[in-house]
Amino acid sequence: MTSLRGRSFLSTTDLSSRDMLALIELTIAGKHSGREAFGSPLHGRGVGLVFFNPSLRTRASMIMAVSQLGGQPVPLEVGAGTWDLEHRTGVVMDGAKSEHVREAVPVLAQYVDAIGVRCFPALKSLSGDRQDPVLRAFAQYSPVPVINLESAMHHPCQALADMVTIRERLGGFKGRKVSLVWANHPKVLPHAVPNSFILAALQCGLDLTVAAPPEYQPDDDFRAVMQQTALTGGGSVRCITDRDAAYDGAQVIYAKSWASTVYYGHSERDLACRANYRHWQVTSELMQRTDSGIFMHCLPVRRNVVVADSVLDSSASVVVEQAANRLAAQKALLASIFS
Ligand code: CP
Repeated sequence: MTSLRGRSFLSTTDLSSRDMLALIELTIAGKHSGREAFGSPLHGRGVGLVFFNPSLRTRASMIMAVSQLGGQPVPLEVGAGTWDLEHRTGVVMDGAKSEHVREAVPVLAQYVDAIGVRCFPALKSLSGDRQDPVLRAFAQYSPVPVINLESAMHHPCQALADMVTIRERLGGFKGRKVSLVWANHPKVLPHAVPNSFILAALQCGLDLTVAAPPEYQPDDDFRAVMQQTALTGGGSVRCITDRDAAYDGAQVIYAKSWASTVYYGHSERDLACRANYRHWQVTSELMQRTDSGIFMHCLPVRRNVVVADSVLDSSASVVVEQAANRLAAQKALLASIFS
């Protein structure tokens, strides 16, 4: 994976399809070769882990990945133990934010050799969030590689682990039928996980169905990116509003809730809209329509809202294995960056 050496990882599309597949195979090889698989490429090095938002899996798996590769993780909570950070340019900093990323990021880079950052979207405007402003500011001001730990628009480490899970469970990608199904949720959630899952799935050549109510369909701009990525990756993509059809013959059901593309920035209207779609929950009855399909979710998941207990507690659910693959995937990623 020489293409990653010394580079940032902001989106799965930072990798070619070929390199994505190679990284997945490297992850699987490393996973089955024990903790010492990659040696200690981070010996004497540190990785800053900057969290603007909560996390269980990403925080714990990155800390362990850095440690197992011989490095020192440096977790920092923005606004809780470290200064609240401003990222906008030209702003008068007379509010709550004490430090600008323009100083904070290059200073942190004096102590560490890579910086991971988690920075959720403001969810006020789709065009604004699409710029991924906090992630881009980190990338702009960092002299060391930046690793996206879930930004406004992308969660590439999650998608990498998702593809590892599918590769191991289904034995490959070509011709495999995978459905990403929108799910009801009491909160308006970002697009990062579905975006990265869609892009990674198409880079790997899967036959992907994206099922969502009309107000939650991908917009035209992203559809164009999806079609182009499917073409390059050798798979296919279709977007449908028929929930049941997404289950018919699918080998993977990946459930996720996301913000409406129609009501983006208007959470009260989104919440009113999704009240009509409470039946977009993964149930045992729906899973029976699949081709012995597995159930996937990035976690955390709302039981009996997103997915019924009977599915989450069944042998079809691979959510814990999927989360475990975060550690394996991030070790392969870090080993490639520092090889
Ligand atoms: N899937 C995921 O990123 O989990 P956390 O939000 O707990 O890190």
